[in-house]
Amino acid sequence: EKIPLEMHKVRIIQKLNLPPVEQRLEAMKEAGYNTFLLKNQDVFMDMLTDSGVNAMSDRQQASMLEADDSYAGSATFTKLEEKLTEIFGTKYFLPTHQGRACENIISQAYVTEGSIVPMNYHFTTTKAHIVLNGGIVEEVFIDEALNLTSTCPFKGNIDIEKLSNLIETNGADKIAFVRMEAGTNLIGGQPFALENMREVRKVCDAHNLLLVLDASLLADNLYFIKQREEEYKDKSIREITREFADLADITYFSARKLSFARGGGIITNSEEAYLKMREYITLYEGFLTYGGMSVREMEAMVVGLDETMDEQMINQGPQFISYMTDELIKNGVPVITPAGGLGCHVNAMDFISHIPQEQYPAAALAAAIYIAGGVRGMERGTMSEQRDANGVEPLAHMELVRLAMPRRVFTLSQVKYAVDRIVWLYENRELIGGLQFVEEPTTMRFFFGKLGAQ
Ligand code: F0G
Repeated sequence: EKIPLEMHKVRIIQKLNLPPVEQRLEAMKEAGYNTFLLKNQDVFMDMLTDSGVNAMSDRQQASMLEADDSYAGSATFTKLEEKLTEIFGTKYFLPTHQGRACENIISQAYVTEGSIVPMNYHFTTTKAHIVLNGGIVEEVFIDEALNLTSTCPFKGNIDIEKLSNLIETNGADKIAFVRMEAGTNLIGGQPFALENMREVRKVCDAHNLLLVLDASLLADNLYFIKQREEEYKDKSIREITREFADLADITYFSARKLSFARGGGIITNSEEAYLKMREYITLYEGFLTYGGMSVREMEAMVVGLDETMDEQMINQGPQFISYMTDELIKNGVPVITPAGGLGCHVNAMDFISHIPQEQYPAAALAAAIYIAGGVRGMERGTMSEQRDANGVEPLAHMELVRLAMPRRVFTLSQVKYAVDRIVWLYENRELIGGLQFVEEPTTMRFFFGKLGAQ
C-alpha cells in the first residue's frame, strides 16, 4: 500500500470540535444546505477549500516578525519583488489583495465589449470578471477533460485545433487574450503539460496574442509535470517553474493558495502590460508597494515561494489526495480520476443518480457529507454556474463535491475518517434528496445562496 508520509512534524496544534449528528443536521438546515454558510465551530474537517488555510511553516511564522512596515517603498516589498524575479524571471510585479483582484485588473485592462477569452477551463471569479467587462469565455479544453474517469495525465490541456479554429473564425483582433489555468480548478485540479503550453505559445505568437497564466494552483501543476511529463523528470522544480513563466506574457496568482494564505499579484516582463495595469492597482488595491497586503503577509510569501520550490513540500497535497481518491475507489465511490491537485473530487451525478441535475445533486451531496461526518466540502456543479442574460440556468459539465486538502493540515487518520464517513454515506445514499433555491443571488450564487428540500 502506498501510504503518503507527512514530511514535517506538528508543533502547533488547533483543537477541533466534532458536534453530534443531531447538531450537524440542525446546523446544515440553518445554513440553507449551503456548506459556505456553516460556522467553522460546527465543522470537524474543513475541506471547503485550500484557500487561505494551508499550514504555515516555522520559517514563515518567524519571517513575519521582521517585516518592514511602510506605506511606500518598504524593504519587505522589495524582498518579495526580488524573490519573484529570482523564481519566475519576471521584471515587474503588481501586488494585489488576492487572486480575483488580479482578474479584475487584467479584465479591465484587456477585455472589451464582445471580446473573447479562450481558455482551458474557466474559474468562477475569472469568468465573472470577464463577463462583467463585456467579454465572452470560450473553453477550448481537450475532449478528455470532461471524461470523469480517465487515465489522461493532462486533462487541463488546451485543444490546439479548437483554439486555432476559434481564432480563425472570429479573427485575432476579437481575442482579448488566451488564458491557461495551471491546475484547472473546476474539473478536479487537473494539470496541463508544458508541451501543451509551448504549442499554445506558438499559436499566440502566430496571431500576436497575449498568453495569460493563472498560477494560483501552480504548486500542484509543477509536481505533476515532474511526475507525469517524461522530459521533465530530471529537471528541478525551479527549472520547471521558469519554463512556465517564460512561456506566459502575464502571470497572476492567488497567494491564498500559492506561497501563503493571503494576497496575490501579477508579474510580467512587458513594460507595456505593466504600465497598462499599474493605475488600477492604486485605484482598487493600494499603493504599488503593498497592493492591499500587509507586510507580514509579504514576508511569509517570500518564504512560501522558496518552499514551493521544494518537491517534498509540493508533493504533500497531491499524495494525500491520491491516497484518499484510491481509498474511495476501493469502496466503489465514484470519484474523478486521475486524482488531481487541490482536493479529492466526488462525482455526485453517479453517487446519487436518483437526483436530477436541476435539483443540484452536488450541493445535496456536500450537505449530506457534512451531516454524515462533520466534513465540509464544496459544491462544484450547477449551483456554481450563473444564469445567462435570459435567466436560463446552464447545467454544469460536472456535478462535483470537492473535498479540498489544505496543504500539511490534516493527518492520515483524519483522511481515513473522512473516507469512512463517505463510504458509509455511499452505502446509504438513498437517504439523500434533491434541493431547490430558497434565496438565489444573481451572481456567485454558490457563495451565499440558500436552498431547501425539494
Ligand atoms: N484562480 C484560481 C485557479 C483559483 O482557484 C482561485 C481561487 C482564484 C483564481 C481566485 O483567487 O480566491 O484569491 O481571489 N480559488 C478558491 C477556491 C476560492 O476555493 O478554489 P482568490
